Amino acid sequence: MFIHGAPGIGKTATVRSVFRELGEYTSKVMPIYVNCWEDSTTYSVMSRIAERLGVRFRRGERLNEIMALTRSRMDEVGGIAVAFDEVDKPCEHYFLYKTLSLGKSSVFLITNKKEFMAYLDPRIRGRLTPETLEFKPYSHEETERILDERRFTAFVPRCWDKDAFELVVEEAFKLKDIRSGLFLLLESGRVAEIVEASRRIEKRYVEKAKKNLAGFNIRGSPDLRDDDKLILELVKENPGITSGKLYELFQQKGGRMAKSSFRRYFKKLIDQKLIRREFTSKGFRGRSSKFFYVGGF
Ligand SMILES: Nc1ncnc2c1ncn2[C@@H]1O[C@H](COP(=O)(O)OP(=O)(O)OP(=O)(O)O)[C@@H](O)[C@H]1O
Ligand SMILES: [Mg+2]
Repeated sequence: MFIHGAPGIGKTATVRSVFRELGEYTSKVMPIYVNCWEDSTTYSVMSRIAERLGVRFRRGERLNEIMALTRSRMDEVGGIAVAFDEVDKPCEHYFLYKTLSLGKSSVFLITNKKEFMAYLDPRIRGRLTPETLEFKPYSHEETERILDERRFTAFVPRCWDKDAFELVVEEAFKLKDIRSGLFLLLESGRVAEIVEASRRIEKRYVEKAKKNLAGFNIRGSPDLRDDDKLILELVKENPGITSGKLYELFQQKGGRMAKSSFRRYFKKLIDQKLIRREFTSKGFRGRSSKFFYVGGF
């Protein structure tokens, strides 16, 4: 199945939720979720699938060997459903071919690029006959309902002024992006509580929160800590930097994280699309990448 739709429309959330249910419903089909931004070469995608299937292999094992081990594991499972999220990100898509060659597999390709299929290598495209599922933008009513549910879960009852909440809905609907609505809910609450010491969330706090919307990638993001910000600043100042060089600079500038946590946070920034990765070499083990800061939405 080919799934496409605008950013922030809920593709990832939906697929993850359906896959979770599938896993609970049956043990005959094993759901496997792959984020192609994280795993972006055939080698790393196939290693990930093998890992999820419980295949044991040595680090640095050859692709052919991993495939052989996976194939024999496939004899023991009913089938696999693999979701390739952000499938447009890798520069080669041989892994689709490889996954289908395992047999008993159905694949879900998820992207916000409607035209993705057209650019796919015809030899791979020929193997796929996908149904298409388009995620359409949310109506005003749907936007309101989604945000209202979040408000209900995240806030104490009755702390929102009516016109304040309406403004959040307006903004999110106008921007066609639920994420900005979620941000505004949180940020308005933060402005009210921390900055203004108010127990109610009034419209003027939403107005203030709106000003931070543009920069919410960096500063507003609630789970960004100081070290994360330093990483971002460094990538911003040094376009095209490699991860090794970045860690060096990070330490020089007083970054406190150990290399393993640094990697984890760096990966998170990439996942959050605050940092963009660009590959400098292709091929199975070509993992050499340059990194760029992604400003604003
Ligand atoms: N129908 C919905 N109900 C509740 N929350 C939603 C809904 N749609 C989107 N969201 C929320 O909006 C945010 C963005 O959704 P998600 O990450 O699934 O978008 P996406 O379509 O995968 O975007 P992208 O193309 O950028 O990857 C998530 O926090 C998600 O929980
Ligand atoms: Mg997504």
